[in-house]
Amino acid sequence: MSQESFQSLISANLDDVKNYLKSNQIRVCVIGIGRIGLPTALSFAHAGLPTIGVDINSNLVQMINSKEYPLQDEPGFDKIFEDVMAKNTFHATTNILEAVPVSNFVILSLPTPMDKNNVPDYSALISVSKDLNKILKPGSLIVVESTIEPGFVENELISIIEGKDNRIKAKRDFGIATCPETANPGEILSDFKKLPRLVGAIDERTTNIVSEMYRHVFGVEIIKMPDCKTANAAKLTANVFRDINIAFVNELAILFENLGIDIIKVLEACGKKYNFETHYPGAGVGGPCLPVNSYQILNSARGMENNGMLRIIRAARETNESMPYHVVELLSDALNEIGKSVKGSTIAVLGISYKPNVKDIQLTPAEAIVKRLDQLQAMVKIYDPHFKSTQVFSHKTENNLIDAISNVDAAIIVTAHNEFLGIDPSLFVSKMKTPVIIDSRGVMDIYAAKKAGLIFRGIGRGGV
Ligand SMILES: NC(=O)c1ccc[n+]([C@@H]2O[C@H](COP(=O)([O-])OP(=O)(O)OC[C@H]3O[C@@H](n4cnc5c(N)ncnc54)[C@H](O)[C@@H]3O)[C@@H](O)[C@H]2O)c1
Repeated sequence: MSQESFQSLISANLDDVKNYLKSNQIRVCVIGIGRIGLPTALSFAHAGLPTIGVDINSNLVQMINSKEYPLQDEPGFDKIFEDVMAKNTFHATTNILEAVPVSNFVILSLPTPMDKNNVPDYSALISVSKDLNKILKPGSLIVVESTIEPGFVENELISIIEGKDNRIKAKRDFGIATCPETANPGEILSDFKKLPRLVGAIDERTTNIVSEMYRHVFGVEIIKMPDCKTANAAKLTANVFRDINIAFVNELAILFENLGIDIIKVLEACGKKYNFETHYPGAGVGGPCLPVNSYQILNSARGMENNGMLRIIRAARETNESMPYHVVELLSDALNEIGKSVKGSTIAVLGISYKPNVKDIQLTPAEAIVKRLDQLQAMVKIYDPHFKSTQVFSHKTENNLIDAISNVDAAIIVTAHNEFLGIDPSLFVSKMKTPVIIDSRGVMDIYAAKKAGLIFRGIGRGGV
């Protein structure tokens, strides 16, 4: 891009920004083009804005530039990908130097996982911010879409981008905002079209410009937040709410198994009350968001008296992290009923993704289940429609469901993939050595299962 066509966004008024958008004069760079960053970059490019995706994964970059759509489990974006590649409004690179200096709108969609001690790991954001210190063009706006704890932008990221020299200063040379992503994997396109966007920034001017940009690209409601940290707090609050509520029903599920009560009947009845929000028990809570987000909130209270009194979040994590072991206890109980033990039995694990219908095993409860089965010296067979004939958790995966369940002593349904919904119990009876089923996600009709002769256990399914 020539020097003349670079529009300074921080000195622009809203009318200027609207004109730049209309004439596609804003140049976008999305750093981190994975599950969230790629759909984001494609959306900006689809709105007509020249967009570059930056990623350290050279295979991914090569695939994109060869016009091969990489996110097969994200419906709808394949067509958008084809369109923007044909119109040449999007390409990818591994070289940040090729992208940032020619862009005036820089989005960070980098991973924010946690380390083995559950401490949030912001190293990708920190490393890219050090690069921005050297190469960001004055006049640019930065938007952090990654999920981070409240205060991280204000207390750490800005000073890393500013660095020790005086080349770029926040507000004077660049604006920074957060727009935490809340889309659900597998449904990103429909979520992008309907979910409101939260925008918080370093100052009102930046909030207004970023809001205008997101309104233009996504056409959804924009909720302006007072600052970055409030926007990040809202994102974390919504997800931690789910983590805690799932832990609550998981605790009740274990109680109800002992009391001979079917939790599904309880939840159906509670769901009739206008202010009850139904959550379901299960094998555990995984993925790159919920578990990490709870630890991010906990981390934001470090050093505070009583750790900010976040006892309920800590307890919820403990409960949800214990659920894979409860699943194996249910298995052991069911096998005992027919005089078998986990040791030496062949167990089919059905579904390993952390959620239905996506190819993603980040922090999946299936991993803890498989490891526990290995520890107990069971023979493990794994089948997941998204991970066929490959190697996962040190096990070769099966190519199809029938091969997976043939001749096994028991099967555990861990993920409610569509392929398993309403599955016919007689299939298990006809193929398995002994028809022991642990349904950790409520996919099977429990009455049909019993009628077909399955030895059945489900989380919270007491009294059935
Ligand atoms: N996946 C979700 O469900 C979801 C939903 C909402 C928000 N988020 C948040 O969005 C952010 C991104 O998550 P994701 O799921 O898209 O992660 P992802 O792992 O799918 O994608 C991140 C991409 O960043 C790349 N990357 C890593 N370090 C890099 C670097 N230094 N420079 C350039 N590229 C680099 C990786 O190669 C990868 O392609 C995280 O903060 C996550 O918490 C994720």
